[in-house]
Amino acid sequence: MMPPSPPGGVRVPFGIPPAQTDAASPADPNGHTVPVASSAGAHPSADHPAKENREVTPEELRAAIDEVLARLDRDLVGLVPVKSRVRDIASLLVVDRLRRAQGLSADPPSLHMSFTGNPGTGKTTVALRMAEILHRLGYSRKGHLVVATRDDLVGQYIGHTAPKTKDVLKRAMGGVLFIDEAYYLYRPENERDYGAEAIEILLQVMEDNRDDLVVILAGYADRMERFFASNPGIKSRIAHHIDFPDYTPDELMQIADLMLEKMMYRFSPAAREAFARYLQRRMRQPHFANARSVRNALDRMRLRQATRLTAQPGTPSREELMMIEAADVLASRVFTTSPTDVEAT
Ligand SMILES: Nc1ncnc2c1ncn2[C@@H]1O[C@H](COP(=O)(O)OP(=O)(O)O)[C@@H](O)[C@H]1O
Ligand SMILES: [Mg+2]
Repeated sequence: MMPPSPPGGVRVPFGIPPAQTDAASPADPNGHTVPVASSAGAHPSADHPAKENREVTPEELRAAIDEVLARLDRDLVGLVPVKSRVRDIASLLVVDRLRRAQGLSADPPSLHMSFTGNPGTGKTTVALRMAEILHRLGYSRKGHLVVATRDDLVGQYIGHTAPKTKDVLKRAMGGVLFIDEAYYLYRPENERDYGAEAIEILLQVMEDNRDDLVVILAGYADRMERFFASNPGIKSRIAHHIDFPDYTPDELMQIADLMLEKMMYRFSPAAREAFARYLQRRMRQPHFANARSVRNALDRMRLRQATRLTAQPGTPSREELMMIEAADVLASRVFTTSPTDVEAT
């Protein structure tokens, strides 16, 4: 829930960046900057929104956040506990702003987070939205998300790691640093591993620059737990742990419908039924990755649809161009391979 209305007419000194309309841009898996907020370059004056001191009413503040949260609700199927945690954090930030305006000082809230869950459960997507929320509420200057993995942070030889880590941190300043599979930074079996050096620098920055950088560590829950157990310094700096559950078959179907709708495709009734059976089988196979597997499956079905349409005589109708038919689903190897085979297509 959003916080209650503040006492009449309090104005909050704080700037809201220009409204965003684009859907979350896909995160660059190779660890580079994903612009979330439109402040990047185009609006030099919005570069330091929090420091602009533009007067914004609490109502404006709340409206800005409500819009992001509504979009989160609309764009992401399920994830009820995740959405409610994101809402809690947004509320905390709104209240922190309002308290400051009333001279009720406190340390700024600690915002480093961990996102745990299996692949394809929406961690990167929610991190993008979180970056946007932090920006809208003035807790980040730029609102961008930098995705990094061990390879972006850790070097191969002595003296290589510190500059690499610092470079990534520098790019992430003013936004959110998302470290995917963070536990790979720590390799206790290798005594001379440079990951420890990266962790040390990271720790320092998480502490010293917490007003200008939010770090989100992501990965499988069990490995993350072990990582925290061996790195209490990191654990103690993470204020918010958010768990991303696997999707149910129903949710995966809704995700498929939503993805198709966004691409202006849809399932025929028979294809939809076939896809439910596809999911049943695919979920039991190795390398199943929740919503990501759904996206990949849809890509292959579009490919089969295209092959089918170009093989038939004449120009396909608009209806045909939109429709995924049962045949496009049923040609999948998922229906012919056993559950123990390698990733099916
Ligand atoms: N709840 C959801 N509703 C709709 N699409 C989703 C949902 N969760 C994930 N996706 C989509 O699935 C894909 C993988 O999600 P991602 O955030 O990269 O997962 P993770 O980072 O946990 O591996 C993305 O294309 C994303 O948009
Ligand atoms: Mg991810």
